[in-house]
Amino acid sequence: MFTARSLASVASYSSASVARQMSSASKKVAVLGAAGGIGQPLSMLLKLSPAIGELACYDIVGTPGVAADLSHIPTRARVSGCLPAAGAWPPRGNEGLGEALTGADVVVIPAGVPRKPGMTRDDLFNTNAGIVKTLIQGVAEFCPEAVIAIISNPVNSTVPIAAEILKQKGVYNPRKLCGVTTFDVIRANTFAAAHMGVDPASVDVTVIGGHAGITILPLYSQLEGFAPSDAEREAITVRTQFGGDEVVQAKAGSGSATLSMAYAGYLFTEKVLQGLNGEKVTQCAYVQSDLTDCKYFASPCEFGPNGVEKVLGYGTLSAYEQAWFDKMIPDLQKQIKKGEDFVNA
Ligand code: NAI
Repeated sequence: MFTARSLASVASYSSASVARQMSSASKKVAVLGAAGGIGQPLSMLLKLSPAIGELACYDIVGTPGVAADLSHIPTRARVSGCLPAAGAWPPRGNEGLGEALTGADVVVIPAGVPRKPGMTRDDLFNTNAGIVKTLIQGVAEFCPEAVIAIISNPVNSTVPIAAEILKQKGVYNPRKLCGVTTFDVIRANTFAAAHMGVDPASVDVTVIGGHAGITILPLYSQLEGFAPSDAEREAITVRTQFGGDEVVQAKAGSGSATLSMAYAGYLFTEKVLQGLNGEKVTQCAYVQSDLTDCKYFASPCEFGPNGVEKVLGYGTLSAYEQAWFDKMIPDLQKQIKKGEDFVNA
């Protein structure tokens, strides 16, 4: 489902495709946390998207520079850089979250601290919960109709936090709130393709559950032509669940995955935009769901003009996957409750 598209090919859309996209409604996308490790490359990829007419980069630091830099790329998206207070680029007096969010069709949120070696995503809760809360309060005030894509970890908890804030403000729409789990999908595609010796672009693994450790469940049994031994299946499943740690360790204290996450965030946003522009597209997302005993669950979803049009099923699990599934559910429930309690306690 995800077509792995290189940066080069992003920039060189066929002219027919550009013409089609130019004629479709041009959308405003706001990136909150746009000066960060993910935010900057994500904003650059979005600047290349013909579907975007306006790109608002918001952060507590650095966005005037990010926006000025991006604005020299000759694509049609207008770019603005907003800070909580004065200092935006181009200089227009006091700017802020309100300016970034007003009129936004999609809000992508990679704001917050990343992991250091030895940390779980849940260790980020104390810092990132407050950041997400503040930003979602802004979304509720300035663009309650926007589709929200949360990247900030722990996603398993930050999505419930966002939902509770939006409920308090009376603007919660489960079709418009998503946790981004695309990274797990592209990681699974990469690992499976390497194992199979095929082009990763031809592989599409369904990944369900959440976005942390054992709550990430890749359904390799559903991948045609993939027939690992038991040991190989165990190794690739665990690597998909804990692949983020490889990058955290390799970066040795300077953060977690940023470039590959930016690519995943870009893919996710592009599909949301395609849906808003009237196409029916399917991708995995962590959303409010009735599929399991967890209130929020990642599974394939159909996106369309209203955001998440349908939460789709995830097919049959193998006995191996069912065992992981059974282990995952209590963990995920706990993380969901932690997010809800943060807002309601
Ligand atoms: P980073 O530290 O490089 O960037 C975060 C940015 O957020 C900084 O520029 C910071 O100034 C900004 N920020 C902090 N508080 C803010 C606020 N109140 N309003 C607006 N901006 C604010 O971190 P990085 O590497 O970009 O990671 C960001 C988040 O994404 C982390 O929580 C990380 O765990 C998460 N992540 C999620 C993944 C996923 O698959 N969902 C994958 C990788 C990382």
